[in-house]
Amino acid sequence: MKISVFGLGYVGAVTSACLVQRGHTVIGVDNNPTKVDLIAAGKSPIIETDLPEIIASAAADGQLSATTDAAQAVRDSEISLVCVGTPSRMNGSLNLDYLRTVCEEIGAVIKTLDREHIVVIRSTVLPGTMRDLVIPTLEAAAGKPLGDGYRVCNNPEFLREGSAIYDFYNPPKTVVGASDEIAAAKAMALYEGLPGPMITVPLEVSEMVKYTDNCWHALKVGFANEIGSICKAEGVDSHAVIDVFLQDTKLNISTAYLKPGFAFGGSCLPKDLRALSFHARDNDVDTPILRSVLESNVAHIDRGIRQVIAAADGKRKIGIAGFSFKSGTDDLRESPMIDVIERLLGKGFDLRIYDKNVQLAKLMGANKAYLMEQIPHISSLLVDSLDELLDHGEVIVIGNGAKEFADLPGRLSGEQKMVDLVRIIDPAAAPAGYDGICW
Ligand SMILES: NC(=O)c1ccc[n+]([C@@H]2O[C@H](COP(=O)([O-])OP(=O)(O)OC[C@H]3O[C@@H](n4cnc5c(N)ncnc54)[C@H](O)[C@@H]3O)[C@@H](O)[C@H]2O)c1
Repeated sequence: MKISVFGLGYVGAVTSACLVQRGHTVIGVDNNPTKVDLIAAGKSPIIETDLPEIIASAAADGQLSATTDAAQAVRDSEISLVCVGTPSRMNGSLNLDYLRTVCEEIGAVIKTLDREHIVVIRSTVLPGTMRDLVIPTLEAAAGKPLGDGYRVCNNPEFLREGSAIYDFYNPPKTVVGASDEIAAAKAMALYEGLPGPMITVPLEVSEMVKYTDNCWHALKVGFANEIGSICKAEGVDSHAVIDVFLQDTKLNISTAYLKPGFAFGGSCLPKDLRALSFHARDNDVDTPILRSVLESNVAHIDRGIRQVIAAADGKRKIGIAGFSFKSGTDDLRESPMIDVIERLLGKGFDLRIYDKNVQLAKLMGANKAYLMEQIPHISSLLVDSLDELLDHGEVIVIGNGAKEFADLPGRLSGEQKMVDLVRIIDPAAAPAGYDGICW
């Protein structure tokens, strides 16, 4: 394929060199003539392992060239990969000026082309940028709508500086968000045969994936460093601790606990977080990440409550399906649903609650005393069946993932609303009136 690559920085230079190695012809474009001259002379514009050799041979073969002439590069290629910088402004917002300029340049050429062109954004951009900036800018410059002679993709880059060439050939995954299937197939073809999953998703999903990844990586570093600092204050070897932590691939290094849903609770996580944060403070170790995990949880409970109140829209009758902190237990200790229930009661809502396990516990079992003595104002609201709950609630809240709740969305009358805190069903199949807490 003939490819133009806009921006010859870390991402653009590595992408250009590797695509040439994979048999494509690449024209690099940069508005910095020094970078263009370096590539033209077969030299790498950045320091990166193995890159100088690849660029030297690619340029010598004539398969890699560079120019400051954006228009010519678009005319001479069938696909443009945009790798220009998207730096932070002083206030932390994303500076999209370079991206906008390049889209204007590419769009102006698309206006004159009598063949199809694909524009692939590899720069890191926030969700919505493709639809709110890239597509409108291309449309304005091309004077024709998306799909009329051109298509777009978002193709986030996962390379790490220092091992960028290795990472290009061994990506953790290849992700393409696209305006349509033809565009997605064309962008994916650039990476055909590379290892790792090849994932095609809507544009906004691929934009968000990159931020999710990087925020997660940053959180991991901060988390490990806070744990390490507490260990040091205690005279414990942090690496010995983390070595054990890493060997748990069921709960720690795994997909566990990573599904968006409702707040955590129960007898362990809140208590242990509080204890370790207190202990760190006691040792003069500042642990803002650990400290703010509970804060984040409270913010999420607040969001849930606001959502229920908004769904009620002035009505008062609410049915809560699921009361314990997760399905399959009657444990109510620090269940975030207790917070939700107490706050709604405090605001004068008329509540009924259904939870099979808690109902059983009310009759017998270890939690009986707690239910009858500590939270009688809540346990008196328990009903025996989902039918009773549905008869009462103008809004139904799904509070935990008990299997028997899966039918509830389908049983809503046209008037009833539902707030789902656990994703009890696929939202695509949800009836009118359904809303999820973070989907
Ligand atoms: N560096 C990384 O490790 C990395 C990894 C993944 C994603 N990203 C993302 O990729 C994008 C590029 O990052 P980078 O580190 O390669 O940036 P960089 O600053 O090294 O390179 C950007 C290049 O774009 C050029 N440029 C600016 N305006 C231009 C224009 N109008 N026409 C042509 N070229 C123009 C600049 O001269 C520069 O050479 C960013 O969005 C970044 O967040 C970077």
